[in-house]
Amino acid sequence: MNPYKAIEVGQKLRIVRPNQKYPPTQRVDIVIARGAFGSGEHETTLSCLEEIEKVNPKDMRVLDIGCGTGILAIAALKLGAEKAVCIDIAREAIETTVKNAALNGVDKRLYPVLGTLNQLPASLQEPYHLILANIYPEVLKEIASQIKALSTNGTILIASGVPWEDNHEIVTLYKSLGFQLLNNRWLEQYTTFTMLYVG
Ligand SMILES: C[S@@+](CC[C@H](N)C(=O)[O-])C[C@H]1O[C@@H](n2cnc3c(N)ncnc32)[C@H](O)[C@@H]1O
Repeated sequence: MNPYKAIEVGQKLRIVRPNQKYPPTQRVDIVIARGAFGSGEHETTLSCLEEIEKVNPKDMRVLDIGCGTGILAIAALKLGAEKAVCIDIAREAIETTVKNAALNGVDKRLYPVLGTLNQLPASLQEPYHLILANIYPEVLKEIASQIKALSTNGTILIASGVPWEDNHEIVTLYKSLGFQLLNNRWLEQYTTFTMLYVG
């Protein structure tokens, strides 16, 4: 596959690479330099982008847990989100996210955090309207109560990275914490689910 090829996602988005020329379209371009997980080819990333587009994140405060390249948060910002906090345990992920935020002109609205969710600075511990977590099932289990604490009535959670066989357990856990299941997508190997926090 040509690594510079543009990737159209959903109805509105297109992933492109830096310093390449592409034919203009009506789509919103997300410029993504590689450097961490999340270049736009993986089924979990693509399905999360489709869910973000459906939610319409305009004016939302977004928390992207396990941001990788920052692709999900940057897409939300380019679709009109107010601000996005991006957290990842990998230094190269945070560095790539910062670089990609600048390439997309959204760096003033993106707050990078290196570490785990319990290291979120106090100033960023607020309720989020949209929480993105394309991460691993064991992490989704571990941080479930922290995700609940950062949610408010109406918060949307888009989670992925969960293999088929773990889907039921993780969805059941989040239901027990006050999240309702809106959409459960079965991909080739993984699942992506969208939930609504109703408290
Ligand atoms: C599957 S990638 C997702 C990247 C990007 N969000 C996407 O959708 O393509 C998962 C990311 O989570 C990060 N990660 C793993 N465990 C974590 C944890 N406990 N807290 C924060 N980030 C974590 C990894 O470093 C990796 O960048």
